[in-house]
Amino acid sequence: MPTIERAIRIHTPGGPEVLRLEEVPVGMPGPGEVRIRHHACGLNFIDVYYRSGLYPLDMPAGIGMEGAGIVEAVGEGVAHLQPGDRAAYACQPPGAYSTARVLPAKNVVRLPDEIDYDTGAAMMLKGLTVQYLLRQTQPRGGLLPGDFVLFHAAAGGVGLIACQWARAMGLKLIGTAGSPEKCALALLNGAAHVIDYRREDFVARVADITGGQGVKVVYDSVGNDTFAGSLQCLRPFGLLAVFGSSSGPVPPFSLQMLAAKSLYVSRPTLFTHLASREATQEMADDLFGMVARGAVTIPVERRYPLADAARAHQDLEARLTTGCSVLIP
Ligand SMILES: NC(=O)c1ccc[n+]([C@@H]2O[C@H](COP(=O)([O-])OP(=O)(O)OC[C@H]3O[C@@H](n4cnc5c(N)ncnc54)[C@H](OP(=O)(O)O)[C@@H]3O)[C@@H](O)[C@H]2O)c1
Repeated sequence: MPTIERAIRIHTPGGPEVLRLEEVPVGMPGPGEVRIRHHACGLNFIDVYYRSGLYPLDMPAGIGMEGAGIVEAVGEGVAHLQPGDRAAYACQPPGAYSTARVLPAKNVVRLPDEIDYDTGAAMMLKGLTVQYLLRQTQPRGGLLPGDFVLFHAAAGGVGLIACQWARAMGLKLIGTAGSPEKCALALLNGAAHVIDYRREDFVARVADITGGQGVKVVYDSVGNDTFAGSLQCLRPFGLLAVFGSSSGPVPPFSLQMLAAKSLYVSRPTLFTHLASREATQEMADDLFGMVARGAVTIPVERRYPLADAARAHQDLEARLTTGCSVLIP
């Protein structure tokens, strides 16, 4: 029987003010689906792209792609979960900013008992992204201990997890961040070097740090503002992985920009990596293992009531947040 739940929804794309708390009916899961009651919902920059219309949605629409809670019901054909399980997920379509929802089961995994709900809700989309970036988005010949990589926005949600994970892999991660405080946080989390890219020329600093060699990979989620400089930071045969557009999408560019150093450019997304239940579980096991070993601690820095989703979006877009934030229903 459907229940009436609270959810943040939008009826038109726009600024944070379009996020509205509403009552919506939530039904039972169909084949391949699961119904979850949220204890916490993750806040991600991708939610801003959906809210603003950069990524189109059919209206009215839910928002949010990451959460943790209790499984209330499973649909036909779902064997890996049962009612009462603690669970967490990163999934499409949006709809996580809610008290309860129905979603595809393939991207939902059981949450280990030692991981609390806030951490579970903060770690799935961001932690699985770091998993596929550092483990699966590699240059020719792979990444070896001692290799330099450049990671932009290193004090953000994805960024602080990446700093720790890279340290555990023995990589020398050069992190960029937008203030001295954010740089200090990235260093504390395992960055080998940090650059305040709002005050310093990050291309020149990377050249200094690497003795003019450049880095093997640049992981760039800033997009428009950093793209050209990121290419300059790469060594020959290096890889630029553009995985976000926090400053706006990268405009069309000439392939000739890659020719001088035989560079590779990729535009990866999490959900192509989470295409199957098996892949989702394998990546989640890796992430949970990193957390269980203490190699990665999920930095849950802010908690907002669900009703304050608009304020959370304002803070995220104004670059006021560090680490991960969650909404509490
Ligand atoms: N492709 C994928 O699979 C995937 C998956 C997850 C996340 N992402 C991307 O990864 C990035 C990080 O996500 P997140 O949720 O962890 O967010 P976040 O890093 O916590 O927040 C975004 C950060 O980007 C930096 N930034 C640079 N220019 C900005 C601008 N003009 N406006 C706002 N912020 C700007 C800011 O840090 P500074 O002040 O330090 O510059 C800001 O704190 C996002 O671009 C997101 O879309 C991609």
